[in-house]
Amino acid sequence: MQRKKKRKYVQLTDNDEINRLLNTVVSSVKDFTESQFEQIRRLTQIGAALSAESNIERLLEMILEEAKRFTNADGGTLYIMSDDEKRLHFAIVETDSLNVRMGGLSGEITWPPVELYNENGDPNYANVSSYSALSGNVVNIADVYNIDEYNFEGTRQYDAETGYRSQSMLVIPMRNHENDIIGILQLINARDRENGGTIPFSLFSQELTESLASQAAIALTKNRLIMDLQNLFESFIKTIATAIDEKSPYTGDHGRRVVELTMMIAEEINEMNHGPFESVFFNKDQMNELRIAAWLHDVGKVAIPEYVMDKSTKLTTVHDRIDLLRTRIEVLKRDIENDVLRKELARRGGYNEESLINRCRHKINNLEDDYEFLASVNGGVECMTDDQVMRLTKIGRKSWMVNGKKQSLLTEDEMRNLVIRRGTLTDEERAIVNNHAAITSRMLSQMPFPKKLKNIPCYAGSHHECLNGRGYPLGLKAEDIPIQSRILALADVFEALTASDRPYRRGNTLSQAVSILECMVRDDHLDADLFDLFINRKIHLDYAKKELSQHQIDERDGR
Ligand SMILES: [Fe+2]
Ligand SMILES: [Fe+2]
Repeated sequence: MQRKKKRKYVQLTDNDEINRLLNTVVSSVKDFTESQFEQIRRLTQIGAALSAESNIERLLEMILEEAKRFTNADGGTLYIMSDDEKRLHFAIVETDSLNVRMGGLSGEITWPPVELYNENGDPNYANVSSYSALSGNVVNIADVYNIDEYNFEGTRQYDAETGYRSQSMLVIPMRNHENDIIGILQLINARDRENGGTIPFSLFSQELTESLASQAAIALTKNRLIMDLQNLFESFIKTIATAIDEKSPYTGDHGRRVVELTMMIAEEINEMNHGPFESVFFNKDQMNELRIAAWLHDVGKVAIPEYVMDKSTKLTTVHDRIDLLRTRIEVLKRDIENDVLRKELARRGGYNEESLINRCRHKINNLEDDYEFLASVNGGVECMTDDQVMRLTKIGRKSWMVNGKKQSLLTEDEMRNLVIRRGTLTDEERAIVNNHAAITSRMLSQMPFPKKLKNIPCYAGSHHECLNGRGYPLGLKAEDIPIQSRILALADVFEALTASDRPYRRGNTLSQAVSILECMVRDDHLDADLFDLFINRKIHLDYAKKELSQHQIDERDGR
């Protein structure tokens, strides 16, 4: 119970009786205005506090608690309107005298929602909260036991079970900026601030609570809009990343797996309280920023033609030109046979075809060997030898006849592709593929990321930069490559090395992948501290257990 302040007695007239009366009136008016001023001041503070709260569960709790404090109510319920506007879900239920606290941060309430419409589709006006939600009217009841307008069976049942006595009730609809009702605030048993007894809710506290409810509705709507936007943004990003992976049968699930690895590394860094990452900690927003950067790191691939991105053989353009070579070889073989047959026919009238063909068998076998060689070289090798290049040149010098004109067996462009020393891409094609990092950077730089996500273009666009300055697109120096990009680079390479769905390569085993990473660390391509963390904290192994085939996880666990 609050203790009244002692007021100074003021001598206003010569008459003591009148003075006492006047002092009492002045004091009461002062008390009343002070309390009202305090309530309004509090309302302003609550408005600011509500709009600052970003946790929706905490916000719901705050709304009910502040409404209770305002009206000195013993309990209350906060309902939230369902998306289809057909029911009210229990969000928070509190009764101080029974020490009941449900919903919000304490966990979801499993009570069935209040249906706004009966089974026959009629509006449910019998339930007071439903009535308020449907009509938009405030309901202020002095004693729920003395009213027939609404059905309080549920309330009576609750009272019977708990020994409570529900009496006064204030039900206020919460409207958002579009005047839609998004929830109901129901308060129970206003208490007299002097003696604690239950009293009706006054008109003044009703009006203040209405004002609070409207501020709360705006805060709630704002939070929901932000959440909806975040969800939309997240799914949009995942859709883009998936679309890029879907473009190619080889990249499969690259985007998702790079995100997984990136976050595993970042979470491990957050756990470190010694060593090189002792002072590095990514907060919630920074983790989110890194995660989105990982999802978007290859977004630039959207602009790279698939036949270059996935060039699985040296002769692939839109199709594999090795089939053309097969045809030419076949034509050459027929030419040889025809030549022998024609000559023999001219020499004598009759001939034995089999014996004649045997005479050119050697040349035909050579052509078959040439084709086998071309087909194997076409598949892309780790390193073409000088001997192989010489043999290729020799084959290229052979010729075949088209429409009576002599043509080289291999065109200039076919030759240029077949002599690629490593892999299947020409320098020009390699440049096109590498350009995806620059395109990623350019595309993301044009997006108006909010402040918390402003580094995404930099992190994502630098995932192919190397500490030795020989990376791309900018050839950044080590000190200019942020830790986030280094994490992404490690995750990207490890995923690519172990993925089993890349052109010409089965997924490496863990030990093979780790050996290659070691080489890349020695070359100052990847960050050594991150590599040590990756291996020593067994992130590679945890990832392998989830994502790789059993045969890839060799006995040394990669080390
Ligand atoms: Fe990339
Ligand atoms: Fe990538």
